[in-house]
Formats: sequence, structure tokens, C-alpha cells
Amino acid sequence: MLPKINPEHTQSWQDLEMHFAQNDFDLRSLFKENPNRFAEFSVKRDGYLFDFSKNLIDQETFNLLIRLAEETHLKEAISAMFSGEKINETEGRAVLHTALRDFSEEEILVDGENIKPGIKKVLDQMKSFSAKVISGEHKGFSGKEITDVVNIGIGGSDLGPVMVCSALKHFKTRLNVHFVSNVDGNHIAETLKNLNPETTLFIVASKTFTTQETMTNAESAKDWFLKKGANEDVAKHFVALSTNTKSVKEFGIAEENIFEFWDWVGGRYSLWSAIGLSICLAVGYDNFEQLLKGANETDTHFKTADFKANIPVLMALLGIWYRNFYGAGTYAILPYSQYLDRFPAYLQQGDMESNGKSVDRNGEYVEYETGPIIWGEPGTNGQHAFYQLIHQGTELIPADFLAYAKSCNEVSDHQDKLLANFFAQTEALAFGKNAEEVHAELKASGKSDEEIEKLLNYKVFAGDSPTNSFIFNELTPFSLGQLIALYEHKIFVQGVIWNIFSFDQFGVELGKVLAGKILSELKSQEPVNSHDSSTNGLMNYYKAKK
Ligand code: F6P
Repeated sequence: MLPKINPEHTQSWQDLEMHFAQNDFDLRSLFKENPNRFAEFSVKRDGYLFDFSKNLIDQETFNLLIRLAEETHLKEAISAMFSGEKINETEGRAVLHTALRDFSEEEILVDGENIKPGIKKVLDQMKSFSAKVISGEHKGFSGKEITDVVNIGIGGSDLGPVMVCSALKHFKTRLNVHFVSNVDGNHIAETLKNLNPETTLFIVASKTFTTQETMTNAESAKDWFLKKGANEDVAKHFVALSTNTKSVKEFGIAEENIFEFWDWVGGRYSLWSAIGLSICLAVGYDNFEQLLKGANETDTHFKTADFKANIPVLMALLGIWYRNFYGAGTYAILPYSQYLDRFPAYLQQGDMESNGKSVDRNGEYVEYETGPIIWGEPGTNGQHAFYQLIHQGTELIPADFLAYAKSCNEVSDHQDKLLANFFAQTEALAFGKNAEEVHAELKASGKSDEEIEKLLNYKVFAGDSPTNSFIFNELTPFSLGQLIALYEHKIFVQGVIWNIFSFDQFGVELGKVLAGKILSELKSQEPVNSHDSSTNGLMNYYKAKK
């Protein structure tokens, strides 16, 4: 079980509060005072570099944060997760997405049963099925090869595969993989518009096989398929990824086309499971396996590295420093890689659905902040959109900058220009431009003293916006696996320290239940009057206009 320690009651938290009150860190001074700052506050691993020196911390902050991890019994929590204890207490489940990428011989027991053989069986099934579809051996009802795959799923049954397929486009097979998630009919209609049922394979991805959006899209996909005259052949064109075998069969999907996974895989941690079938089809099984192996490499690092050089632990502690002591409400993820365009959206679910909680593991309301708002866009697009606010707005916005040293596509000097922007932004965010420098610059450009006085404040950049920088050598399935797992474990560590349960998501339930009731009212002829006046008014307006 996870420890149940209120972090505010630890000595290190109280010391951190005092330390925060007594210091007003500025990065110019911190770098000036310590010429070894980069060496001391960065970790080089095989394949990537993590630089956290541009953070508002000194050695004492660092030591206190490490002590916080120790005092909240993080070590014990890590072993509890990896060994399959039921740390998702509110749902009575183990949390074992790490087992899905553990190729060692070591047994992992859930309720006394070794889960490794089951994992291997499904991986073999994914391998052989994806090979048959990619090679053209698996044919559609009219004997043609499959050309297009449509993954129907939402949340964790969509965002992970979407993100990975986008990130690994460079490794694409001949198949075109599409994703339908939104219950908005426009999503499926636009996706199916240019597809041929003879050459399309549908993957219905749903852990529970009850999610309204997914089941509605799956039924519409089946209708479309059957209307095109393919009556008997659902088996060749529909497969399911689910823990709910009974409902999958009722939908009409053949037993051999079900790819099973288990309740100890959380939805937002499921891309490593059967939910990754769309990834196997998009980039081939071998690349999928490399993704798993990369994640496993991070798992080993997370389990074994000293906290002082343990990247997920450091990421988590720095996040806590800004969230709980500086009061930063948001955290930006800024990938300098177009291939990672969906990475911020993926992490939004990973982080916000996990740590968007306000009741602690003792059942009490927390009196400190928990998960921040996660957002971001690929650089350099973000620079021309929202960076202004990070540089000169009134919010402190910590950010992670992510880049690759080698480009998958060497196009003239694009890569140097991209990285020049990465380095320039992290430097500008950290050190800004002070009044003296602005003054000298304006003077040199020939401005009068009066003009300088008018402009000066607008041109000053305060700096001291903290960033972490990741530079991976190259974007490969393996390095992507490493990266994703770093964030998974960061989220876990924060949840442990905040003393919350990171693996349930009851907060999304209320809306689902209400939507069910509202749907029947929308379908009836009667005017609606069972809600508050606003909801009644909106629904009646919709009914009149639809
Ligand atoms: O949004 C809530 C949620 O339960 C997520 O946690 C999950 O990833 C998503 O719905 C989809 O669930 P399912 O895979 O069961 O369709």
C-alpha cells in the first residue's frame, strides 16, 4: 500500500516554506555564483541529456526537495507499484503498466497469479495479427488487402496511440491509420468519407466497452460497413481491444479478434497494452517492441537511480516546488519537434486525470495544491502565439523544453534554426533583459532620453521563468518510450508526495451520468423542466432549433 503521509506535516515541507520565504532567487545571480551549475544540475544518460539548471533553486532547495521525497516514503511507494500491490485503493486494483514492458523472466503476481504469460500471449497475438495485415495476408471481404485502419476509442484508448503514431510517422508502414474519438458525428463522417469498406479495418478500443462515445462511433462504423453490402464479414474488418470480452462478443466481434488487457492497466497508461495495436499497425510490431523496451529502460532507471540523479523524481520535485511554494497553477510542455505535436494533449490526460484530485489518501480534503493545468504546443509555433505571456505576463509558468539533436529529415538548415530557437527561448526566459541593458540598447539605436524613459518598462524582460531542457539524441521508438515513461513516473511521484490517489478518475463520472439522463429528455417531445432554469433554457432552445 502507499504511505499516507500529509506532506505539509513533514519537516522538509516546513523547511522548504521557510527557505522559500527567506530567498528571492534570480537565475543571473545563481549562475554567476556557481560556475558549475550546469554540471551540478543536469543528468546525462545514454541517449539524452536532462538539464534542470535553469530552475529557481540552489543546493539547499535541492537537498530539501530530496528530503521531502524521502520523508514521504517515495522508495516504498515505488516498490509497492512495481511489485503489484493494489495501490489503486479506491478501485481495489494493482497498477502494473510497467509489467507490460518488462521482458525479464521475473514473475509479477496479481492475486497470486503470474501475469507475465498473459502479457506475452497478447503481445504474440498483436505481432502476428499486425504482420498479417501489413503484409497483405489478412484480406478484406472482397479479397483486397487492407489499406486503412480506423481506431475508435477515446481518452486513454485514443490519446496515447494518436500521440505515438504522430511521433513515429517517420517509421510508418504502408497502412494509413486514422483515429475517431469524438461522439460528434462530424468526426466519423469525415474519417469515413474517403475510405473503402473493402479495405478498411476497424479497431474498437475500449477498456470497459461501455464508453458512450466509443460505442456510438463503433455502431455507426458497423452500420456504414454493413450498408456497403459487406454483410457476413464483420469478423474480417472489426477487432476489439478490451477487458470486457462479454460485451465485445455481443457487439458481434469474433473471439479470435479480441485483444485482451486487464484491470491493472489504467486507461491513460494503456498504450503499452493491446491498446497499442494501432501503433503496431502504423509502425510495425518491432518498432512497438522498441517503444516498450525504451519505457522499460526508464522503469529501471526510476527504480534504481539515487533520487539525486533520478530524472522522474527530479521532474516531480521541481514541479512541486513551483506548484506548492511559488503557487504556479499551470505547467507548459513545449516540444521542439513537430512529431511531438500531440504530446502535450496526451500528457493533459496523463497528468490532469491522475493528479486532478482534492481528497488525500486518508480521505481528508487537502489543504495544499495538487496537479497543475498542463498545456502546450510545439515550438516554434507556440513562440508566435502564447510565449509573450510567459515572458512578460503576470503568471509564473514553469515549462519543459523537449528537442532532438538529430532530425529525422535533414532539410537544409531547419534543424539548426529550430534548435537555435529552443536555446534562445530558454536563455531569454531565464535571464531576460534588465533595465540597464534595455537602456543601452535604446541609446545605441539613437533614441532620446525622453523616448527611452517612455519605452523602457515595456522592453524589460524580467526573466526567472524556470525551464527544464531535454535533448534526446534522436527520435526513435526506443527514445520515445523512454520519454513517455519519464512523465508517467513524474506523475506517480507527485501523486505519492501529494498523498492522493493518482489512478482513479471518479471526477469524469458525474457528467457521464447526467448526459445519459439528458439524452432521453432531448429525444422526447416534451419541453424540459426538470433542471435549473439555465439548463432547461439551453435544452429547450436546442430542441426548438435542431
Ligand atoms: O475519461 C474517463 C475514462 O474512463 C478514461 O480514464 C479512459 O481512458 C477513457 O474514459 C476511455 O475509457 P474506455 O477505454 O473504457 O472506453
